[in-house]
Amino acid sequence: MIPPIKCQGIKTKLVEFILSNIRWNGQGRWIEPFLGSGVVLFSVQPERALVNDINPHIINLYRQIYAGVITASHVSDYLAQEGKKLLQNGDYYYTVRERFNSTGETLDFLFLNRSCFNGLMRFNRKGEFNVPFCRKPDRFRPAYITKIANQVNRLQKLMRGKNWEFRAGDWRDCLNDLKNDDFVYLDPPYIGRHTDYYEQWSDADATDLAQAARNFPCGFALSMWKENKYRQNQHLSQHWNFAVERTFTHFYYIGSTESLRNTMEEALLIKRGYEKDALPGALERAKPVQLDMGLFETVSQASTEAEHS
Ligand SMILES: C[S@@+](CC[C@H](N)C(=O)[O-])C[C@H]1O[C@@H](n2cnc3c(N)ncnc32)[C@H](O)[C@@H]1O
Repeated sequence: MIPPIKCQGIKTKLVEFILSNIRWNGQGRWIEPFLGSGVVLFSVQPERALVNDINPHIINLYRQIYAGVITASHVSDYLAQEGKKLLQNGDYYYTVRERFNSTGETLDFLFLNRSCFNGLMRFNRKGEFNVPFCRKPDRFRPAYITKIANQVNRLQKLMRGKNWEFRAGDWRDCLNDLKNDDFVYLDPPYIGRHTDYYEQWSDADATDLAQAARNFPCGFALSMWKENKYRQNQHLSQHWNFAVERTFTHFYYIGSTESLRNTMEEALLIKRGYEKDALPGALERAKPVQLDMGLFETVSQASTEAEHS
């Protein structure tokens, strides 16, 4: 299930790895304090969910789709109308950006997300969206509009009849009423990047989260980078060694030649007892691809490794 918005750290290519490694009875709520694009939630499709993000624009969009306030036909009419203006003058992107920054209009957010440079989601210190235009005035061609409208339509169908609660706020506020049958999927920002208003994530935040997870009465899984060519993530060994670790190796190119291929290892830390059995020594390698969005977009199939003890 492809979500209608994109964001940094989107787990599209990791969903299968994540879901094939966790065990949950589905009786309680699926809880996601760091929702982002929502791709993990939309793949799990739980009957009951509590999802949250500190970025209110993401939550507004999904709340409105959930409530039927925004439908595929609204999206397609709006993008056709605004896309036409963009085609006449590429600078129209900046008119929409200005409008969004003063009104917070939800469909403008979708427009910007789908026509900005590299699909980045970035806000300045004042909370204003500041990503430049992808410089394609013909961005909203009919096929592209149909694709986005179909994504909204599929999502709306999937949400129908489900008991999902959307909240905008700090992760702590949605974890104070956990029940044994709930399952919490944690996908916080990378520590210390501080590149975005909504992505401030310090060592102290990360440590608080690890501390909180120790006391969850229910299952959890945390996604986090583990290792690349240059660094190992010390935070994992320091704060999450009480959990079961599964890893996923993927490849990315810097430049165009095979010799510049690098590997990146992603970890999934799972509460003991909530992990699925590991496939012994399984390591499937997919063809590396050229990334256009920085280091953290995943590109290949999984490795499932022995548990961390
Ligand atoms: C790595 S992204 C999540 C990606 C998501 N799993 C996906 O696949 O699209 C982290 C998210 O955490 C949100 N976030 C950052 N700080 C937060 C906080 N203190 N409380 C709640 N959400 C926060 C960001 O807005 C961002 O959407």
